[in-house]
Order: sequence, then C-alpha cells, then structure tokens
Amino acid sequence: MMESKNFIFEKIKNERPPVHTTPKGEFRCVGLGTESLEFIFNNMQPGSVTLETGCGLSTLVFGLTGCHHTAIVPNKSHIQETIKSAEKLGVSLDYVTFIPQRSETYLPTLSSAQKLDAILIDGGHAFPIPMIDWYYTQKQLKKSGILIVDDVHLKTVSILYEFLKRQPEWQEIRQHQKTVFFQKNEESGHDNEWDFWRSQPYNTNFRAKFSQLLTSIKARLKN
Ligand SMILES: C[S@@+](CC[C@H](N)C(=O)[O-])C[C@H]1O[C@@H](n2cnc3c(N)ncnc32)[C@H](O)[C@@H]1O
Repeated sequence: MMESKNFIFEKIKNERPPVHTTPKGEFRCVGLGTESLEFIFNNMQPGSVTLETGCGLSTLVFGLTGCHHTAIVPNKSHIQETIKSAEKLGVSLDYVTFIPQRSETYLPTLSSAQKLDAILIDGGHAFPIPMIDWYYTQKQLKKSGILIVDDVHLKTVSILYEFLKRQPEWQEIRQHQKTVFFQKNEESGHDNEWDFWRSQPYNTNFRAKFSQLLTSIKARLKN
C-alpha cells in the first residue's frame, strides 16, 4: 500500500536520515530544521520549479511535494545517501535532478529560460559561494518567488543576509532559527547602469558610510 505524503513527511522529520557523510566516512544529518522543512512541504506544489545548492532532507521534501527540482551538490556520497533514503522512505525522486558539481562552477551556465518558484541556498558556505549561489539564481526567480537562505549565523552567509534584508526588492517573510525566508517583490532594475553601488542600501546605511569614512581617513594618514 502506498503511504500518504503526510505520513512520509512525518517520518522524514522524525527520523532525520543521516544523509551527510563526513570526510572520515561517518554519517550524520546537517539538514534544515523541522519548521523550515514544514514551510517547504506546506508551500510548494506539484510542478513547482525549484532549485537548491546542497542536498539532503530538503531534497527529500522538495521531491515529496512533487516539485521539478534541481539539487547541485559536488559530494557524490551525499547524493547517493539522499537517493537511498528516498527509496527507504518511499519518496519519489522522478522529478528531481542531481547535478554532481560545485555550484560556483555550474550556476554560471544555468539557462536563463527556466523560471524558478523557489530557491534554497544551503551548499558551500566558504566565501564567496553563498553570494555566487544567490547572484546566479536570483534572476531566474519569479516575482513573488521564495528565496530560502540557511545558516545566516555564519559570517559569509550573514553578509548576504545583511545585504538582502536592506534591499527593497526582497522582503523577509519569516525566520526559523538560522534559516531565513525572503519573497521577491520585484527585479533589481539596475541592468543598464554601469555601477549602482550607491543605490544599494547595504552600502549607504549609517554604519557603511561611517566605515567608508574611517577607511579613507586611515588611508590618507598612511600616505
Ligand atoms: C548543510 S548541507 C545541506 C543540507 C540540506 N539542505 C538538508 O536539508 O539536508 C550542505 C551541502 O552542500 C554541499 N556543498 C558543499 N560545497 C558545495 C558547493 N561548492 N556547491 C554545492 N554544494 C556544496 C555539501 O555536499 C552538502 O551536501
């Protein structure tokens, strides 16, 4: 008998299968928290077009909801363990595509034709990978689409978070622990400008201006 999606989802939340392997070959799970998984389960529809960097519990849930989903992840054992868990739990991955590459290599080649309903950035956390992940996917996100950014407590991801929360085209709609959710209100609209750093509130808020002033003074004193 086929188990219901709700039943399988409860199993994913309760069992948190250890799909992530450490370099020593130990198994563990560093997946999204329960409330974030619930958001994906409750808000994605069969046929939603979605993309994530990294893979794991989130991939199982995107697959379970019937999304046409792409997971970009260089670590083959993470892909294999996610597939094994899907088989064990009864999650169909028929509409899930794994791209076994680093996102920073793959994403610049992403077709601009495909429009996305949701993006999850939870792949590499070293500088500047979260920014690259955002930069190369955000244009493909539909208006009102959802951008999920995990691990905003990490320094690199926090830079992206601090930037996005000041930009009018991104509206923060919720946060569950270290995972934040944005909705895209509009396109950035700066495509034809040769430089638009001044119109990014991240660069022009009081702290940023103060730090710019301090750096210029220090540079002048040195010379
Ligand atoms: C925190 S885990 C993802 C957890 C997943 N969202 C979940 O809910 O289980 C991070 C993943 O990013 C992958 N990763 C590491 N570096 C990456 C890169 N440069 N590009 C894409 N994925 C990367 C890792 O292999 C790992 O699978």
